[in-house]
Amino acid sequence: MSYKSTEFSNDFIARAETYLEQVKPVAEASLWKPKYHLSAPANWLSDPNGFSRFKGEYHMFYQHHPYGPTWGNMYWGHMKSRDLVNWQHMPIALAPDQNYDKDGCFSGSAVEKDGKLYLLYTGNVWTGSDWTRDLLQVQCAAVSEDGVTFTKLPQNPLISAAPSGDIHPNHFRDPKVWRQGQYYYFVLGSRSRSDRGQALLYRSTDLLNWEFVSVLAQGDERLGYMWECPDLFAVDDKHVLIISPEGMAPEGDLYHNKSQSGYLVGQFDEERGKFEHDDFYLLDYGFNFYAPQTTLDEQGRRVLIGWMSMWDDEKPEAADQWAGMMTIPRVLMLRGNQVLSTPHPELSQLRGTHIAHTGVTLKNEVTLTGIRGNCLELGMTIRAQEGSVFGLKFGCSEDGTEETVLTFDGREGKLILDRTRSGQGPGGIRKAPVQLKDGRLVLRIFIDQSCAEIFVGDGEQTMSARFYPSDTSDGIVLFGDGLAVLEQLGKWEMNSCWL
Ligand code: FRU
Repeated sequence: MSYKSTEFSNDFIARAETYLEQVKPVAEASLWKPKYHLSAPANWLSDPNGFSRFKGEYHMFYQHHPYGPTWGNMYWGHMKSRDLVNWQHMPIALAPDQNYDKDGCFSGSAVEKDGKLYLLYTGNVWTGSDWTRDLLQVQCAAVSEDGVTFTKLPQNPLISAAPSGDIHPNHFRDPKVWRQGQYYYFVLGSRSRSDRGQALLYRSTDLLNWEFVSVLAQGDERLGYMWECPDLFAVDDKHVLIISPEGMAPEGDLYHNKSQSGYLVGQFDEERGKFEHDDFYLLDYGFNFYAPQTTLDEQGRRVLIGWMSMWDDEKPEAADQWAGMMTIPRVLMLRGNQVLSTPHPELSQLRGTHIAHTGVTLKNEVTLTGIRGNCLELGMTIRAQEGSVFGLKFGCSEDGTEETVLTFDGREGKLILDRTRSGQGPGGIRKAPVQLKDGRLVLRIFIDQSCAEIFVGDGEQTMSARFYPSDTSDGIVLFGDGLAVLEQLGKWEMNSCWL
């Protein structure tokens, strides 16, 4: 396959940037556009890509359709930050301008080599009209010296076909690369010929010539027909494999989203190219969390950002010429074989005005002075008797018709997030298994115009939701059965993350 000049690429990018400039004012004026969660300047954003640290700056690329608030021909949008807190938009990094990626620069990752930033991504080409079957996916790379302008390698595609064996020839995407000893490795999303999700392992010494090592891990029939966006990394003396399986069937309260994202904890055996692991657990029990990607921060913490949306969900923000946002950066740690997710500590830099309350019995409905808003962080500790039921409503309208309800039900041992009366957009209920610890529930809740992210305790559970309230629905109401006491509540207004 031939290689076209970078001018051609720049033309694609310049045209897309010009178009984005035109529609940006509409997106920026949107009531629902987040202030401290990452979203595209306008139009479509999905998977985080190429999340990395290069020359002292964090880079976040993303699946981007610059020409509409719907999924389409994928570009790589780009933003960067010195601290994971304050961000700036950068020019589009990759455009689908080559014959091997003409129908999309699909998801991938980044790694530094010899002072240059390499992006590894999947080139997608439709070969017929059935997009579930008629596709050719190849693995490609682009390189940059300055972290701004990227040039696709003349050797592309670096891998032009899936390996033989029990590997679907077409669904073959999303390389997540890392350096280990003398090798670069990547894991790749795959499905078997009998429709099991699996991750493939490749290695290289130069980032150009890649050798297929093994099927690193394969799911059973519970774990869907395809694993998208795998990510493998070490934590302490174990490894975590994050996967985004398509096609898992609901089980009780679990797996009610279109697709899931979760993790397997185990040991990566580099010699054998195998990953022996424990069971699958969700990374987030809410409605909107998919295709997350991790990198290491300056202090060696494993940081994850996910796409806070979901395939096929109605996205009312599309009417305002944008769609999709990221979660806040979450720090991952292991306790035994459980992954804990907590808000990145540096995010507290965005905190503004603070209001606190202490010692309030949660009986019936309680409103507290100064506790309202739709761009804020709430921290709460609630002491409760066994079996007590209490919670919090946010995005509440004065007349009580709109509200999003978070209930801790001590009888069920569940935290329940209810969007039935949230406003526009999809409704539904999600439940996460949660227990009181030392008789208390500790919550941190991040609300940002059209999203909420909920963190429980030391990061044992998270729940995320998009919701679409009217502009006056910014009330917050606590409630309870009288068996719970709000020991403390802190509310911080949050400032914008954009420089
Ligand atoms: C995950 C995903 C990836 C693919 C990309 C295309 O959301 O389906 O597997 O590379 O999105 O936009």
